[in-house]
Amino acid sequence: MEKPVYILGIESSCDDTSASVTCNSRVLSNVVANQEVHSKYGGVVPELASRAHQQNIVPVVQQALEQAKITKEQLSAIAFTRGPGLMGSLLVGTSFAKSLALGLQIPLIDVNHMQAHILAHFITDQESKIPTFPFICLTISGGHTQIVKVSDYFKMEILGETIDDAVGEAFDKSAKILGLQYPGGPLIDKYAKLGNPQAYKFTKPKVGDLDFSFSGLKTGILYFVQKQVRINPNFIEENLNDICASIQYTIVEILMDKLKNAVKQTGIKQIAIAGGVSANSEIRSRLQLAEKHFGWTTYIPSFEFTTDNAAMIAVTGYLKYLNTNFADVSVTAQARLKVTD
Ligand code: KG4
Ligand code: ZN
Repeated sequence: MEKPVYILGIESSCDDTSASVTCNSRVLSNVVANQEVHSKYGGVVPELASRAHQQNIVPVVQQALEQAKITKEQLSAIAFTRGPGLMGSLLVGTSFAKSLALGLQIPLIDVNHMQAHILAHFITDQESKIPTFPFICLTISGGHTQIVKVSDYFKMEILGETIDDAVGEAFDKSAKILGLQYPGGPLIDKYAKLGNPQAYKFTKPKVGDLDFSFSGLKTGILYFVQKQVRINPNFIEENLNDICASIQYTIVEILMDKLKNAVKQTGIKQIAIAGGVSANSEIRSRLQLAEKHFGWTTYIPSFEFTTDNAAMIAVTGYLKYLNTNFADVSVTAQARLKVTD
């Protein structure tokens, strides 16, 4: 039997400190420390994020090893998020990973966070099926919104992307307008379940077939809410569920329209979603329906592998390990990195 490959993955690109141990493509542990400190500021404060990573990284890594029931001496390699993300946050994970790999004298593997969101689909011990190539991936997160054609593990092409805000920002900024706490995406999802998605109509943006734009929608929602509040100061409280359902319906309609365009243009009917917003219940159920209605095969990751997590970093590290695609210790964090880099 082949020797098992144990990878320690480290993720610190934004406001979650995460460490995970994988054995080949199976996840043995996936520890995520969320940073509560940002919620009162209505968004991530970079300086506070890097400080919290510094505090969290050692205990989070220790916990990941303990839960996996392996010692650091058993590790085959260390994989870390090189970018994209907040520089101060990335530096914490990068420096930690380098030092540990040097100390243990094992290979260091740099991972592109955007590729990792997509390659989370290759974690084998989750409910969802494993995609076959080529497939289309809709990556929807707090920082990115793009449609990617995936021809092989590391052969990706961006077919379209947002020209302004990311879809996660559209959720979070809409939530802020409604007075909800950051990050508001999950709260909109929660209230939307109790509301009427047809209660209010919002205009969908007009951009290229495979591109996205969400800044106009956000302004539309702001003006609509301000106008209604002038008429009835209790408008938000009295209609929160309907407002959230209508906002979510509009956003998911936009995402589904673009996916239909991508299928039309490429002829590929294998559709995956990735990134934090793929935790959204409406996009998940609409994709399941698309299997029946349009004959698509859809790939929907388990919740824990949608939002930022180190298991996706470790499994991407494993795929690079198989190709002995290692990083030199001189590797540096990169705040800007495309999925194709
Ligand atoms: O991938 P992620 O954890 O971090 C980035 O790399 O950006 O995505 C975070 C985003 C936030 O905007 C959050 O509001 C959104 O994902 N999100 C959701 C849901 N869960 C997380 N948006 C809508 N519905 C959800 N259930
Ligand atoms: Zn992410």
